[in-house]
This record gives sequence, C-alpha cells and structure tokens, in this order.
Amino acid sequence: MGKQQKILVLDFGGQYNQLIARRVRECNVYCEVRPYTMTIGEIKDFDPIGIIFTGGPNSVYLETSPQVNKEVFDLGIPILGICYGCQLMAHHLGGKVTAAQEDTAREYGKTKTFYNTCCRLFRGLPAEGISWMSHGDYMAKVPEGFELVGHTDACPNAAIADERRGFYGVQFHPEVNHTEHGVDMIRNFLYNVCGAKGEWTMGDFCKRTVAGLKERIGTGRVLLALSGGVDSSVLAALLAEAIGDRLTCVFVDHGLMRKNEGDEVESAFSKWDINFVRVNAEERFLSKLKGVVDPQQKRRIIGAEFGYVFRDEAERFGITKSDFLAQGTIYPDVIESGEGDADVIKSHHNRLLPPEVVARFKDVLEPLDHLFKDEVRQLGRELGLPEYLVMRQPFPGPGLAIRIIGEVTKEKADLLRDADYIYREEIAKAGLDTKISQYFAVLTDTRSVGVMGDGRTYDNLLALRGVTTTDFMTADWARIPYEVLDRVSVRIVNEVGHINRIVYDITSKPPATVEWE
Ligand code: XMP
Repeated sequence: MGKQQKILVLDFGGQYNQLIARRVRECNVYCEVRPYTMTIGEIKDFDPIGIIFTGGPNSVYLETSPQVNKEVFDLGIPILGICYGCQLMAHHLGGKVTAAQEDTAREYGKTKTFYNTCCRLFRGLPAEGISWMSHGDYMAKVPEGFELVGHTDACPNAAIADERRGFYGVQFHPEVNHTEHGVDMIRNFLYNVCGAKGEWTMGDFCKRTVAGLKERIGTGRVLLALSGGVDSSVLAALLAEAIGDRLTCVFVDHGLMRKNEGDEVESAFSKWDINFVRVNAEERFLSKLKGVVDPQQKRRIIGAEFGYVFRDEAERFGITKSDFLAQGTIYPDVIESGEGDADVIKSHHNRLLPPEVVARFKDVLEPLDHLFKDEVRQLGRELGLPEYLVMRQPFPGPGLAIRIIGEVTKEKADLLRDADYIYREEIAKAGLDTKISQYFAVLTDTRSVGVMGDGRTYDNLLALRGVTTTDFMTADWARIPYEVLDRVSVRIVNEVGHINRIVYDITSKPPATVEWE
C-alpha cells in the first residue's frame, strides 16, 4: 500500500466532529480526527495534505479555551476553519473576535448566505444558499491577507479566505445536511486547495483495518460479541479475515430476541467458516431484570450481564488475559452514550461493560467505532456479505427489554414477540421491508377499555413504530399506508390476545428517539 493522502481534523470539542470526518471520507479522502492538543511534531509526522479545525463550544478570546500552536500556520499546509475553528484562525492571525452584540451578528439555525464563487472554496456552486449557523461570537476584525468571501444579512464575514496561503474560514457548518452544497464546499477544499486525488475507498479502509487488526492482535485470540446484526457481523468478517480460527464468536440469546431470531442467527452463522457459540441465557437476564422499570437501569443491567457472560465464555474456551474482546460498536453508539462532551441520550449496551470484565482481557477492540451505520453497510458489501445481512434492520443489544415499557417478564416478551412478528410479516408482504429503515412493535404499560364480542375488555396498548433514515442519528417516521396499518391492527388484535388497542408513533428523531427507551 502506497503513501496515503491524509486530512487531519483537529477536534476542538464541537458536536459535528465525526460528521466532518465522514464528509471527507464521502469525498474519497482518508481522514482522522485528533485532539487539538496534538503537537507540531506530531502534526508533521502525521503529514496531512490539509487540516480542518472543527467547531467547539468555547469562545476563542477566553484564556481557558482550546488554542493551537501558532506554528501550525507556518507549515505550508492548507487549513479550513469551521465556526470556532474559523474564529481561532482569525484570533491567532491578527484578527479580533468578540461576543456578538444583541441582534447583530449572533446567528443560529438556517441562514441565507451569499458566496463569492471566484473563491476556490465556492467555485462552481450557486452564489447564494442556506447555511447552518451556530455561533454567538463575531469576527470584529478579519486578519490581514484575508478577504471576505461570504456574508449574510447580519454578518459581513460569514466566510473568509487567504487564497495565497490556502487558509479558509467559515462561520457556518458545511458538514451538516442543512447547509446547501456544504459537502461540495468541503470537496472544493480537498480537491481545489489541498490537491486531493480522491484515492481513498471503503476497500482501502477494509484492507488497512484488517492489516491493523493483524498487527494489534499478533498471535492472540479474540472473543467477539456477535448479535447477528449488521455491525457485529461485519466485524466478524473483518476479524475472520485478520486472524482466521483464532476468532471465537459468542452469540448471547438473552431471551429478549424477536420471534425465531435466536434460531435464525444460529443457523446463519453455523454455515460460516468460523467458531460460533450460542449461549442460552434467558433465565439469567430475566432474573436480573425482575422488578426493574427505569430504562437506563435496564440498559445497565443488560450491558453488565453481557459482559459477565463473555467473561464466563472466555474462561470456558481458554481465552486468556493476553487475548482480546471485540465489539461491533459504531459511532452513534458512542456519541449517544454521552462520551466526550456529549449529553447522555441513552447508554448503548456495548458501552456498559463492567470494569472487571474489561480488565479480564488485554484490550477491547472496537474498530468500527468511527463509522456511521451506512458506512458499516458499505464495508459489509466490500467484505462480500450477502445483501440480506448488510441491509438487516438494526436490533438493539438490550432487545425487547427496551421495547417493553415497565417491568420485563417472559409473558410480556412472548406477547410482544407475537405482535411484532405479525407487524413484520405484513410489512414484508406489502413490499415495504426494504423501504422502511426500522420497524417494530412496543408493548406499553398502559391498559385501556375496549369491547370485543359483547364483552368489555381492559387490556394492553401496543404501539407500532416505523422510521426512515440512513444514519440513525436523525430519523423521520415512516408514512406506512393506512391499509397496511389496518391489516396489522386487525390481525394483532385477533391473533395475539390481551392487546385491545394499537397506536402508530408519528414522531421523528429528534424530538423522539427511534426506540422508546
Ligand atoms: P435510538 O433509540 O437511540 O436508536 O434513536 C438509534 C439506533 O440504535 C439502536 N439502538 C441500539 N443498538 N445497542 C445497540 O446495539 C443499544 O443499546 C441500542 N439502543 C438503540 C436503535 O435500534 C436504532 O437503530
């Protein structure tokens, strides 16, 4: 493998840092996100063709805020500063950044923006469009050598450029979908300014990841937490390629899978040329969940119990302390679990391993933890996984436990399994299974009055959920035709029993999330 062109994304703590990296990868250029504390020596060793400064929640003029070593501007490497990154560049190169006065240049949300299309950053793009702003500070003075190349009604310097040195700053966020042609601006920076050739592909990522895993694992063994979902299946294929039969895949059936799913996963993976083990642990999980109603508490218990099962299986298979545990954690799992500076939305099960389980292994390998769902799918195709597996809808590690509101019991799980099965069957019959990204039933803890035959019922309320999305970080509720919903409703009430009312969830993410807990 030859020398690779690389982009360095210097992270100043903004919420879209990995999204910037993802956009660069979409433009076929390799990139890594590193902390802003990286030294000049480390940056030189990294040898990037361009640097992107991310946004961040701070104000550059405060002494406590993250700064850069000014020498970064003398390396002859092009720089794109986004939001905080733009202000940082201005601050260090002789400009002046201050807090915006009321009603002047403080801007949040979608903003009409005008661009100078002679500038290399905006070349070939429309001269006006919507950009996504999120800044409370204002560049009162632009540094010498910079021109104003973008403005809004409120702000004369929405974008600045020093074309000679290849320095560009934008106050808005080109990486988010709300900014029209944002990816094209990033592409222009990469290709017009940094001289990118666009040689990076998912195939390349795959080869390098396999090579990296080989090196890291050495002669060791790996126990992989395999759920049968896309992420862990893709990781199984990667690891099998890297270390062959030194990989043991452990599938834990916690009794909270969908109808027939445990058997389906077992039969699919038994056909692969890998060491596959199924552990039936229904009682173990259900007894731990007895009486628990709080969603985060359920997640914590399940995450920990998974860990203890892996520890027990490691003992059983002679996997030692110098061997590894691997998990198919992907980027949204990390960010929504509230790591870094992000808020805890919900702790994904694979972020909840007890410390004593982690200490039982040499290390925990999570090579997909920078990828988004659709990128993992692309990687799966690269590895030759069948389309039905690559496009499988996600199923959360805690399974039905977070789709049963309130206490989880076997009876409720069985009820939900039957209802969910009918829903999935009807969606497939209607040919919608490849069109809706994820769909499932939720057993609420509400009961309501109904009438069946001539009698009164007081039974469970079931909710149906369906969403369309690509990356699962945001999602829209799926517009399932009424006739299909009607068929599902009639069948569930007639065939399942103890469900006498069904509702369809019409909220997007945000403000809701995909799962109910
Ligand atoms: P939310 O509910 O966070 O879901 O909007 C986003 C996507 O993640 C899945 N999900 C999980 N996946 N472990 C997982 O492996 C978890 O703990 C977990 N929680 C949610 C969810 O099904 C959706 O696809």
